[in-house]
Amino acid sequence: MELFFEGIVLRPWSIKDANQLYVIADNEKISANLRDGFPFPYTLKDARDWLNIILPENLPPRFFAIIIDKQVVGSIGIVTKTDIYRKNFEIGYFLSEENWGKGIGTKAIKAATSYAFKNFDIVRVYAEPFADNAASRKALDKAGFILEATLKRNVIKNGIIKDSCIYSVLKEEFRYYIP
Ligand SMILES: CC(C)(COP(=O)(O)OP(=O)(O)OC[C@H]1O[C@@H](n2cnc3c(N)ncnc32)[C@H](O)[C@@H]1OP(=O)(O)O)[C@@H](O)C(=O)NCCC(=O)NCCS
Repeated sequence: MELFFEGIVLRPWSIKDANQLYVIADNEKISANLRDGFPFPYTLKDARDWLNIILPENLPPRFFAIIIDKQVVGSIGIVTKTDIYRKNFEIGYFLSEENWGKGIGTKAIKAATSYAFKNFDIVRVYAEPFADNAASRKALDKAGFILEATLKRNVIKNGIIKDSCIYSVLKEEFRYYIP
């Protein structure tokens, strides 16, 4: 099962991708914008460990490699929530640094969100970028997500307390469904 959208492909991760994953993920500028579970340095073992956690639970697929010209250029995942939050997915993603600023992130967010609403019984997809993550906020905005809130001094990253944001899109408001 692969999702094709405007020149990018989202395909479910395979353990064979570990070699490409750790090369693109081993970047301090990427880890600086993600939660602490995403380490820097990011080693081949980190890639294998992560894939071994997500792959047994990846049917139906929710964690995708972002592929361009058959190369892994990034990662995007829609994470299920539980209990009273179970009609939500949280979306998270990163791209290799050489692919930033080309519109790929926006396309991947649109494709994964379309897939999420079409294939799962959920009503809302949200993301929580740090307030200073201008690229992620802009990509979410271009993919139709709305800024719901800025949470003051909500997170600590690399020893610095920061604001974080909540962006969301509701099923009936999402405009980028892939046929
Ligand atoms: C977030 C990320 C996936 C965005 O992907 P991308 O392909 O670069 O995003 P896009 O090109 O679709 O859109 C980014 C937009 O932000 C803009 N932008 C980038 N840096 C910016 C900055 N410092 N200030 C203002 N705008 C900025 C770009 O110009 C672009 O807007 P445009 O299309 O109007 O020119 C990528 O930057 C990344 O992997 N970052 C590190 C990991 C991360 O932050 N993940 C998200 C955690 S919430």
